[in-house]
Amino acid sequence: MAVDLLLGLQWGDEGKGKIVDVLTKDYDIIARFQGGPNAGHTLEFDGIKHVLRTIPSGIFHENSINVIGNGVVIDPVVFVKELEGLDQFNIDYKNKLIISRKAHLILPTHRLLDAASEASKGKAKIGSTLKGIGPTYMDKTGRNGIRIGDLELKTWKEKYRSLANKHEAMIDFYNVDMQYDLKEMETEFFAAIKTLKELTFIDSEEYLNQAMKAGKTILAEGAQGSLLDIDFGTYPFVTSSNTTAAGACTGLGIAPNKVKDVYGIFKAYTTRVGSGPFPTELFDEVGVEMAKVGREFGAVTGRPRRCGWLDLVALKYTCEVNGVTQLMMMKGDVLSGFDSLEICTAYKYKGKTIKHFPYNIEPENVTPVYTKFKCWSEDLTKMTETSQFPKELNDYIAFLEKELEIPIKVVSVGPDRKQTIHR
Ligand code: IMP
Repeated sequence: MAVDLLLGLQWGDEGKGKIVDVLTKDYDIIARFQGGPNAGHTLEFDGIKHVLRTIPSGIFHENSINVIGNGVVIDPVVFVKELEGLDQFNIDYKNKLIISRKAHLILPTHRLLDAASEASKGKAKIGSTLKGIGPTYMDKTGRNGIRIGDLELKTWKEKYRSLANKHEAMIDFYNVDMQYDLKEMETEFFAAIKTLKELTFIDSEEYLNQAMKAGKTILAEGAQGSLLDIDFGTYPFVTSSNTTAAGACTGLGIAPNKVKDVYGIFKAYTTRVGSGPFPTELFDEVGVEMAKVGREFGAVTGRPRRCGWLDLVALKYTCEVNGVTQLMMMKGDVLSGFDSLEICTAYKYKGKTIKHFPYNIEPENVTPVYTKFKCWSEDLTKMTETSQFPKELNDYIAFLEKELEIPIKVVSVGPDRKQTIHR
């Protein structure tokens, strides 16, 4: 069997956790392929809200196996807290959560380096979640990292010490004012490693390829969003992994010809956390209202998210880069009752009108060109089928499908599993 991918098409927080949870029943295996605890995948069902960071969103389903792939970076301390969260709901993760030996470890000093690097940048800071993501991927590509498989070797602590010493020297080099107690952080880290080692470590690329041969279905769950991709995102205001479709192949060891559907998730408007350009950002009361109604606060850091109109130029770009075959529109319910809606359909770029996503979308280069739409006033959150949709919502959806040339198969009208309408 093949693998399907599920990816965010904007700057993250599109609602991937919810959709993976909805789709899980159709798959045998759910696999995370990149990122780490910078992600916060929110799932709501039975009146309870769960936030997952590194663990795939299939964990709440009895029959699905959840794989953390080689492309993921794992912080044992955060990971163990996540496991404790599952314990509260008696989720038997030991039999359905497996970790790639090739996944890299986030060390306490990676978190410190992240903080030091951000502090040294002043106003130019990335707005990182400070989970140590960047420094860990730097050590991976620099060929210095420590992998999950290393924990099975007797010598891993020596490797740890030598890397942590090097990191301490690097932290000193940044010369920023930072208070920390590494000994205390290490005590917590080594205790967490002990718990982590009780889980199953595997050669996940072999496992996944054998599973496909045996006819199993796999859903690869992306984290962050395509505009945060290290290559195709709004560099340098991006995360440090490939969040786009190709990242699923390298982050799981699955060949491109095994990929079937690519589900692209987007919000009916746009949000962004952290720094970086955002052409359709709203600074008026409309943006404030979107943030309020949409409960737009980061699941990891609690930071308020910046809000703005839907950017079709950016969306077309990410659909193309990912080869999206089906779209899922989230949070349509949040837009109910606005005076009117706008979609950015082109950019004014250095005096010209362009429809492609250029190298640089900084505000001095790019001004959005909008098309206006009538807004719906009906509350969508109680709706259960498309026949109940107001005309204005149907028009909004039809316009997007025509422009993107990809069907919108799912419209989400609220955070709960049940508030998901299939078209
Ligand atoms: P980092 O990956 O934590 O270093 O953060 C880099 C940038 O990506 C920052 O602007 C973060 O706010 C953003 N970012 C990282 N993870 C997420 C996510 O899961 N959702 C939304 N933004 C994210």
